[in-house]
Amino acid sequence: MLKNLFSELAGMQYSRGLLEQAFLLTLTALMDLCDSHTARHSKNVADYSEIIAREMGLSIDDQKAIYLAGLLHDVGKIGVPRSSLSKPGKLTDEELREVHKHPVLSHELIAEIPGFKGIAEIVLYHHERYDGHGYPHGIKGDEIPLASRILCVADSFDAMVSGRVYRHAITIQEAIVELEQCAGTQFDPEVVLAFCSYLRKKGLSACLPHAGAYDHEKTNSRGG
Ligand SMILES: [Fe+2]
Repeated sequence: MLKNLFSELAGMQYSRGLLEQAFLLTLTALMDLCDSHTARHSKNVADYSEIIAREMGLSIDDQKAIYLAGLLHDVGKIGVPRSSLSKPGKLTDEELREVHKHPVLSHELIAEIPGFKGIAEIVLYHHERYDGHGYPHGIKGDEIPLASRILCVADSFDAMVSGRVYRHAITIQEAIVELEQCAGTQFDPEVVLAFCSYLRKKGLSACLPHAGAYDHEKTNSRGG
């Protein structure tokens, strides 16, 4: 239904900027309605991703695309059973399969927005791992778009410092150690280097207004 709505609106004579804003507002409002934690997490991921892209010297256009991808990366969770997303314990194989569908669902939704195909591609690969053990396609290294590798680090970092119903939050210092330990396996080492250098340069928490800002009673969502 949402996809039909996008197609219909795109066929009308509205300006692209206006349509883009309308789509973004609609999707972020939907995410907030379904799960306020995911909406907050998405804003954090967008901010961190933009910082990394800037630190790596990417163009302003690329920074904007990565920011938007961060905002929308988990929108596909709208199509995943809430019971799986908020389950405190270990997921069954079937529940895990459902959760692992969300990058593809996000991609399908975002690709419907006029001019957002590139952003949809970034989102599709945000759970791929540098060593090829991620999902949905199990691609590795440079096969994964750089923007998706950036999103992956930002996403994981926010999950670490914010906590989840199945995992306590850790400190920013501890998160830096974990990112560095997973550089070359889960994460692109160059992306980790850029982000960790920035965090250390800025004095850790001083540069992260969102970190630790969660109401943990409302922290109820699974995955990044
Ligand atoms: Fe995700």
